[in-house]
Amino acid sequence: MARILVTGGTGYIGSHTVVELMQQGYDVVIVDNLSNSNKDMLEGIAAIVGKQPDFEQVDCNDSVAMKRVFEQYADIQAVIHFAASKAVNESVEQPLLYYRNNLMSLVTVLEQMKAHGVHHIVFSSSCTVYGQPTANHLPVDETAPIQVALSPYGNTKQINEEIIRDEAHANAALHATILRYFNPIGAHPSAMIGELPNGVPQNLLPFVTQTAAGLRQQLKVYGNDYNTPDGSCIRDYIYVVDLAKAHVKAVERMLNAQTEEQVEVFNLGTGRGLSVLEILETFIRVTGVNVPYEIVDRREGDIEQVWAKPDKANNVLGWKADTPVEEVLLSAWNWEKKVRGL
Ligand code: UD1
Repeated sequence: MARILVTGGTGYIGSHTVVELMQQGYDVVIVDNLSNSNKDMLEGIAAIVGKQPDFEQVDCNDSVAMKRVFEQYADIQAVIHFAASKAVNESVEQPLLYYRNNLMSLVTVLEQMKAHGVHHIVFSSSCTVYGQPTANHLPVDETAPIQVALSPYGNTKQINEEIIRDEAHANAALHATILRYFNPIGAHPSAMIGELPNGVPQNLLPFVTQTAAGLRQQLKVYGNDYNTPDGSCIRDYIYVVDLAKAHVKAVERMLNAQTEEQVEVFNLGTGRGLSVLEILETFIRVTGVNVPYEIVDRREGDIEQVWAKPDKANNVLGWKADTPVEEVLLSAWNWEKKVRGL
């Protein structure tokens, strides 16, 4: 079976993808600098699939070390590039760090792929590239216009997509799949791996589960005066395990030479938008645990509402995110309980 290099493979989406790849029989080598993840994830992965993936603690910006990885694992046939910094606020405060980390790591990966005859890459992009789509583009499909990024983090996703297109234009052998994720949530049903944010969580679900676990006093709901049915923002929350499976499909499609374009783009979402308050109410209902919350002012830079039209991924990739949100929220809670020893 083919070997897949997974950068950022000890991270949240990366670790879930490694599990799905290994369960499909792929050999995996993870490259991760552990800047925002933990080596314990390797044990979690092993507890699920029965063996640990190969692991190299390497920074993707380090071209000498990356060259060594490609030399050592000469059977790499595709790369899934997750490794990136992803905190929106931090990117506003430290733009250069974000541009260096997120742009140079992709450039280094593409250089090493070319030097070692590896022609397939899956890139983690984000629905953030669409900004707030106009009403005629909701739900959002892949043809919706890209809008000026609201943060350096978002900009790195846009620029990375352009880097891939430019390199594909220059290098006919390169095939790329750009996956634009909506809002990944939840944890593996085994509760052996899940999301482990550093410090105070910025994303909704980790904040909800930490509040439920008693680590945070109350959730702040950022605004209830939006132009939505209950006034809170709407997102397309996608189960991380469903998301992980899309990566396996994308890799298969490239390795089997089924792609129709040199660079293919897929929106990965459920097709269903849920509000912050709906998520909160559903979480409380399915877990039976109360989550105190207060409505506060809007968060600067927030998008009012965005959800995916995932038809292309459904039809072309043959993939669908169909895990019920109740199950997803329970998986997030089970993971939080496991981590906190509850
Ligand atoms: C955020 C980023 C996005 C990034 C994504 C990665 C912003 C503006 N966008 O998306 O670029 O790709 O994370 O996962 O930061 N909320 C609360 N209280 C909280 C936390 C969140 O009410 O304590 C609300 C937010 O206002 C939003 C929703 O929950 O309406 C989801 O927030 P979040 O999880 O941060 O995701 P995004 O804002 O969609």
